[in-house]
Amino acid sequence: MGFDWTNKTALVTGASSGIGRALSVELARRGARLGLLARRADALQGALREIESGGGRATALVADVRDVGAVRRAVESLRQAFGPIDLLIANAGIGDETPATKFDLARAAEIVSINLIGAMNCVGAVLPEMVARGEGHLVAISSLAAYRGLPRSAAYSASKAGLSTFFESLRVDLQGTGVAVTVIHPGFIRTPMIAQRRAPVPYLLDLPEAIERIVAAIEKRKRSCAFPWQLAATVKLLALMPAPLYDLLMARTQKARRR
Ligand SMILES: NC(=O)c1ccc[n+]([C@@H]2O[C@H](COP(=O)([O-])OP(=O)(O)OC[C@H]3O[C@@H](n4cnc5c(N)ncnc54)[C@H](OP(=O)(O)O)[C@@H]3O)[C@@H](O)[C@H]2O)c1
Repeated sequence: MGFDWTNKTALVTGASSGIGRALSVELARRGARLGLLARRADALQGALREIESGGGRATALVADVRDVGAVRRAVESLRQAFGPIDLLIANAGIGDETPATKFDLARAAEIVSINLIGAMNCVGAVLPEMVARGEGHLVAISSLAAYRGLPRSAAYSASKAGLSTFFESLRVDLQGTGVAVTVIHPGFIRTPMIAQRRAPVPYLLDLPEAIERIVAAIEKRKRSCAFPWQLAATVKLLALMPAPLYDLLMARTQKARRR
């Protein structure tokens, strides 16, 4: 028998666009009740309408994940609407280049505070109740960029490496409590975030295929999931490479990109 999503309450951050919105629509279609969190109220209303027109149940929660008080209020209003939260999908994030020779500290700090501290704020708001109830599931949408410091991506790679190790430590600590933890490491997925990117996007996946992979990993309560396999295998190999060899390879890819 398949996973039963009926009467499960899920909080999805970054639900106004891309992966978060598509994942929310799919989980609602499977019977879950959704809390849709993001900053843009109008875009959240679009996601809400899409879910409700398909017969699903959701509530829009306008909040910035960097704002601890706003996140706590959003979580409380979701509990009041649908009861205890079974699943957190910490997906809200931004991606941008932060090249070292033109280092922009404000932008780098913004990336880390949304992608990493924002996720911690959401965990802080849902985890105590999950532990007290002896059930729940925390999911992080990290990235293949977490495996190694990628060129021109110091802040993004750092934020995603931090996110992955943060959730991994939680997983170890939460063994035996009934709370599961899953870290998803996607490669490139066709979303508004990727539309702005100037650098190449090898093995680009369409959203429906990516959502299928993510939902399957959540339903199986996998510890971790990386896709597509071609890019996942490449970054895992890069992670094992000695630093001098890695630097040489990255210098070559950057030179080829400038040509
Ligand atoms: N697309 C890819 O290739 C790819 C690959 C690997 C990992 N990822 C990760 O997947 C996640 C979703 O990315 P996406 O591709 O779906 O991008 P997207 O379409 O740009 O969506 C990003 C979402 O994050 C929300 N968000 C950003 N800052 C926020 C904040 N301060 N507070 C609350 N919500 C915030 C945005 O909503 P508002 O602007 O309305 O707040 C939006 O809903 C990100 O964490 C990204 O790093 C993406």
